Amino acid sequence: WVSSSDGRIKGFDWQVRDDASFQALMSRNGWVDVDAAVNGNGNGVTGSTVKVKIVTATEDRNEFFFPGFIDTHIHAPQFPNVGLFGSSTLLDWLETYTFPVESGFGSKSDPKNQAKNPKDAPPSALRIYDQVVARTLSHGTTCASYFATVHVPATNALAALCHSRGQRAFIGRTCMDNPDFCPEYYRDQSADDSISATRSTIEYIHTLDPKGTLVKPIVTPRFVPTCTRPALEGLGKLVAEYNPPLHIQTHISENTNEIALVKELFPECPSYASVYDTYNLLTPRTILAHAVHLTADERALVRKRDAKVSHCPASNAALGSGIAPIRVMLDEGITVGLGTDVSGGYSPSILEAARQACLSSRLLGHTTGHVECKPVNGFEKTEGREKLSVAETLYLATRGGAAVVDMADEIGGFEEGMIWDAQLIELGGMKDLGHCPLDAVSNGSGSLVKPGPVGNVDLFGAETWEEKMQKWVWSGDDRHTKAVWVGGRLVHQRA
Ligand code: GUN
Ligand code: FE
Repeated sequence: WVSSSDGRIKGFDWQVRDDASFQALMSRNGWVDVDAAVNGNGNGVTGSTVKVKIVTATEDRNEFFFPGFIDTHIHAPQFPNVGLFGSSTLLDWLETYTFPVESGFGSKSDPKNQAKNPKDAPPSALRIYDQVVARTLSHGTTCASYFATVHVPATNALAALCHSRGQRAFIGRTCMDNPDFCPEYYRDQSADDSISATRSTIEYIHTLDPKGTLVKPIVTPRFVPTCTRPALEGLGKLVAEYNPPLHIQTHISENTNEIALVKELFPECPSYASVYDTYNLLTPRTILAHAVHLTADERALVRKRDAKVSHCPASNAALGSGIAPIRVMLDEGITVGLGTDVSGGYSPSILEAARQACLSSRLLGHTTGHVECKPVNGFEKTEGREKLSVAETLYLATRGGAAVVDMADEIGGFEEGMIWDAQLIELGGMKDLGHCPLDAVSNGSGSLVKPGPVGNVDLFGAETWEEKMQKWVWSGDDRHTKAVWVGGRLVHQRA
């Protein structure tokens, strides 16, 4: 039961699963079995609560509700570049692919970037942003932390589109004023411009959604090399002007050349993390994307400031950045969520990010030069401990992400009082397999196996819930995402 006034969970007349090893990780209320939901005793409406609408009902449905995915790091304007990165690595990728595509979100009639109205954004920007929101929703992303571009109208348009389509979102105008790094055709003209344009998007978003129910601004210094000292300082001050202080997002220690460049640009700071700390940008509401190569001292600083990490394994592999030692960070008490990092990452799916998080953790044990998993928290065995389980990566995709965006009490799980941000997952059953070979032989039909209507996760009847989850993570995709809700509102339904 979900309240029609605030979209919060009032209670269940359904069975909530907390099977075996998922129990500890997904907490007591992991996911909801739809068979139990439909066969349960409740139907109808009482008081101010409405029953979540179940879209269809079939005999053997293999459906379950799962908390909506939280993408803690995604670049909306890079969507047209999905799949384009060749053999580049971070710094040449930015120059060759990324800055050119992002620069197209500005308006020719507003060369100084002073317009505010989303309608001043180029039509192509509106089209692409609308597609991004629709597409991420279709993959079950109920909350996303977006990097936009430097352009105010297009950034405001992204906020307005998330608001109207009903996606929970953090919207960041990307700050980049360093003329020694950013190209002339795509940068803020000064630190002051960077701050005032950021202020302008914050004001727009606060007017659009005064209580921040769905959409909130997030201060976004792109990363250290794109920002001058005055810009970093001004952004740190801007954050602290608000109560509570604003959210912050940026990149950190993604690539070794980037780290060397930061050292060259900020010789007075002992580390990459310490640059952000110097300018009061390392806070409990800071999302640090990548964190592949942080030193032990930097991790200790991140932990001390309670800043959060967005793990982007697909991007880290695609751009050859490295493998982030997630187990080490978790052992040290750092809060971690998952990010797609489109288009460093090639997929808008957090399910794919979960899969890649599993895979990259399995490779980590075979790389050299990485931090070892130390025996902590009573774990004696270190060998193989770097591996993340399916349950753990689903945790990072939901509850971990919720903690990263400072909403752990509100989203990421199904406890009473939390917000109904959810997805209905449908896995294929035996019925979807079509003709069996003997039928085909006897009736002369050439087709032995028809593709099932819901994609390639076929269940054969004997799977435990834990096995269903494993099949979903390893071979599922958006064909299994049947419906998606944010704050109790149905925001996507599979065609
Ligand atoms: N570092 C600075 N900008 C970017 C970006 O757009 N993507 C990634 N992956 N890293 C960055
Ligand atoms: Fe990124």
